[in-house]
Amino acid sequence: MFDPEMFVEHCRAAVLADPTHRAVLEVVERAFGDPAAVLAGVGEPVASGLVPLYRSADLTIINVIWKPGMTIMPHNHDMWAVIGIYGGREDNIFWRRIKDDPEGRVEAAGARALSTGDVVPLGQDIIHSVINPIPKLTGAIHVYGGDFFATERSEWDPEMLTERPFDQSMLSARFEA
Ligand SMILES: [Fe+2]
Repeated sequence: MFDPEMFVEHCRAAVLADPTHRAVLEVVERAFGDPAAVLAGVGEPVASGLVPLYRSADLTIINVIWKPGMTIMPHNHDMWAVIGIYGGREDNIFWRRIKDDPEGRVEAAGARALSTGDVVPLGQDIIHSVINPIPKLTGAIHVYGGDFFATERSEWDPEMLTERPFDQSMLSARFEA
């Protein structure tokens, strides 16, 4: 049984006890030991979206539902994150800054394919792009150690890989059905 309200309470208590990602990671790992229960608790995804379950200055919890084949350009968060997949796939490409590049360009540094039941922590400085490579909706819970919607951060032009301020309204629009 996964109760989203209880999950939020457990994450809030975890961040109070330990403001790093570690205590939250334990909470998410416990929940995603049974990803079918998480799916049942949040409901079968019917449309893409960024559905906030909780938002404060030090914690944001979002039910992220990716469109089939959807891609999000490289971006950072400037806060730690813990990602758990309850249905589908999230393929991550990780990027690193090219030293002293005047336009803040990045280069690919690694990749990780996340499947149902996978849980991964992302460090504060991580830069990633995300693809849903399958022809159906992918559902994930993303927990962030800050206010995901209000923190100034960066995105990188998907063609030129140059840095620019993150456009939150553009991101939200991309998730609209
Ligand atoms: Fe991200």
